[in-house]
Amino acid sequence: MSALNTEYDLVITNGICVTASDVAAWDLAIKDEKIVLQAPSGSLAQANAKRVIDAEGGYVMPGGIDCHAHLEEPAIFIKGSTGRSADSWETGTRSAVAGGNTTVVAFAPQNKSQPSLLTAVASTHALATGNCYTDYGFHLLMSDPNPEALDELKALKEDEGVSSVKIYMTYTALQLRDDQILSVLLGARQNEILTMIHAENGDVLNWLTDQLEAQGKFAPKYHSNSRPPILEAEATNRAIALSSLISNTPILLVHISDPSAASRIRAAQSAGQPVLAETCPQYLFLTRDDLDKPGFEGAKCVCSPPPRNKADQDAIWTGLENGTFTVLSSDHCPFRYDDAVAGKKSCITEEYPVGRFRYVPNGLPGIETRLPLAFSAARLALNKFVEVSSTNAAKLYGMYPKKGAMIPGVSDADLVIWYPEDALGELSVTNDMLHHDVDYTPYEGRKVRNWPRYTILRGNVVWDRDGGGIVAAKGVGRFLKRGPSTLGRIWETVREEGPLDLESL
Ligand code: URP
Ligand code: ZN
Ligand code: ZN
Repeated sequence: MSALNTEYDLVITNGICVTASDVAAWDLAIKDEKIVLQAPSGSLAQANAKRVIDAEGGYVMPGGIDCHAHLEEPAIFIKGSTGRSADSWETGTRSAVAGGNTTVVAFAPQNKSQPSLLTAVASTHALATGNCYTDYGFHLLMSDPNPEALDELKALKEDEGVSSVKIYMTYTALQLRDDQILSVLLGARQNEILTMIHAENGDVLNWLTDQLEAQGKFAPKYHSNSRPPILEAEATNRAIALSSLISNTPILLVHISDPSAASRIRAAQSAGQPVLAETCPQYLFLTRDDLDKPGFEGAKCVCSPPPRNKADQDAIWTGLENGTFTVLSSDHCPFRYDDAVAGKKSCITEEYPVGRFRYVPNGLPGIETRLPLAFSAARLALNKFVEVSSTNAAKLYGMYPKKGAMIPGVSDADLVIWYPEDALGELSVTNDMLHHDVDYTPYEGRKVRNWPRYTILRGNVVWDRDGGGIVAAKGVGRFLKRGPSTLGRIWETVREEGPLDLESL
């Protein structure tokens, strides 16, 4: 393609492009939804283009990829809860683009009374189709690994393009026994599906919850006491052990909050086990003190695992820097605060005026604030920031290099353009400025030093902060059929090793 004759759909000049491997002053040309050219800065200023964006020296990065969000989910985590995660696929992905994201992978929850995995996928398509502002995919949230469901794993991956499942070691309604976990790991191994594991010891935390309640301790802050770090470290260790039994089947430990769990992950990685891990902004920016607010206010920060303490935050940053954590995701799982039916206040009764922490719907909003908070903290090198917030997610979940990269002719033109350094001064995060359908942010008043100025999905500007905000219609986002993970050589190694060999145990 000759650069002179081509009419591009979009040219971005004057930006500093940052990928997981480079920081370079490139202009970018975009045509037919793809990046087609990287050229020296300024050289495309006069190119023939339908639209030119002058990035004015701001960073241009692959769009954020957030692969941990709960959209339009019933509060399946707490038995009998009337809660429902507040954001729909429309409002959740709207919030995502305003925070610089171009791809979201959220959950298709298996329904215990209708346990077909393929039905779960069809029901989730019905919610998402025509409503999204980002490209999107599904993880299957598996609560009942019955033989029929396990038989569907092949079709789930091959036909539906769902190459990851999430399972739970806690929450009574979702918790799998160790033998069930092994069955999922075996099925996942046979089908090259990545198993995401929520590692907290549910039996122990239920016991601790009963003990706390017996002492009259019901307030939100006791959520932390019911889930001490050792529960997370023990379950993490057990998950690693179980995956090693299934010939080192790859696993991803989600939303890790505890440094001692991170140490166990690091040890397994150092021993060559394909153990991957995720952390989230709530473990970098919140502490258990945020749950200890007057009255019921602390419920705003009730999530699982709970935020820990300041020193733990530091250790989690170190884990991002040194590669223990593969991805930084939001775990956006919002419930409205002032909502007595579907929100946080659904656990308040006359008898329990500060609610009962065991019934507070677990989860926080954070899909829009993930990138600005992490970028503003300036703890990660720029390449590392792109790696953990975009590129690794694309590799981990089988979307790379279409997503998470800027490879001419190959990568979708999914981009986030930031303001030039210092152009915004210091900005206070307020719930009013966010685009989710939630009545609070746990980060109210927090200072950030930059914000996504433009978000571009396959060459189309979807978010233009100074030019109208959300400027695309819902439904621009497309479903992504995903392949196996291409991170490292995790599935190549499994293929080389062949089927599970019980003789070797
Ligand atoms: O508290 C959390 N994390 N809520 C979302 C559900 C989950 O386990 O990811
Ligand atoms: Zn979880
Ligand atoms: Zn989650």
